Amino acid sequence: MADYNSEHLGTAFRAAILAGDFIVNNLGKISKNDIDTKQASDFVTRIDKESEQMIVATIRKKFPGHQFLAEESFREKNISGYRWIIDPLDGTTNFIHAYPVFAVSIALECQGEIILGLVYDPLRNEMFTAEKGRGSFLNGEPLNVSSVADMANSLVATGFPFRKKEMIDPYLELFKKVFHRVSDIRRAGSAALDLAHLAAGRCDCFFEIGLSPWDIAAGSILIKEAGGIVTDFAGSQEYLVTGNIVSGTPALHAEILSEVKEVFTGIINQ
Ligand code: IPD
Ligand code: CA
Ligand code: CA
Repeated sequence: MADYNSEHLGTAFRAAILAGDFIVNNLGKISKNDIDTKQASDFVTRIDKESEQMIVATIRKKFPGHQFLAEESFREKNISGYRWIIDPLDGTTNFIHAYPVFAVSIALECQGEIILGLVYDPLRNEMFTAEKGRGSFLNGEPLNVSSVADMANSLVATGFPFRKKEMIDPYLELFKKVFHRVSDIRRAGSAALDLAHLAAGRCDCFFEIGLSPWDIAAGSILIKEAGGIVTDFAGSQEYLVTGNIVSGTPALHAEILSEVKEVFTGIINQ
């Protein structure tokens, strides 16, 4: 069993359950008045905001000196050494449509490094957790990335660049190249869950452009602690800064990265 006695993980765990229950209780019940548009195709609901307030309040009560980077309203610099990176509802568009794929994502950064990650799927009661050097777990059971060894048998997850529609042509070029090589491709609508599923061996590779730290901080440590590889588009570790991410099992990461580089070198350098 995972050690939920770690004070950081235990607190994140409680916050995620609280927020996840709240989200599920509101599924299919929101009205137009609950939804704001941030930019074209990019929405936020009252539920995203309230979920974030619940998570931050729960963690802040336990760790009053820590800072927060949370999608809807916290942009604090890490001055204490500890900063929580939170997506209170990853998959908002799905949630608005009652499409049942969304998650709560909570990570903890210490001196610039992610040391804890948690992704909670409240509809399936799946709690994915990882702490640096201690492995990844799903509801307390250890996780490993898949052992699929060739691209032809792989299932690849991705996200469409709906906030960067100017990227659609190179994105589709990459999609086509990858599509011809793999078993199939999925676009489920929650980057945090895509990464958690990769950690759990349910898919084998992932790529997406222009994500934010709260989308990927928790998922990236889940994958690394489950034995997978996570990089940016140059093969470096700047994905939390650039938001461009390529991930895969040790057998497949180099192959998917080389497809990404072939299309994006010169367009996106990292
Ligand atoms: C989004 C989801 C989606 C991804 C987007 C993200 P949000 O997060 O993770 O899968 O393609 O780029 O922004 O806005 O629902 O929290
Ligand atoms: Ca998100
Ligand atoms: Ca979100």
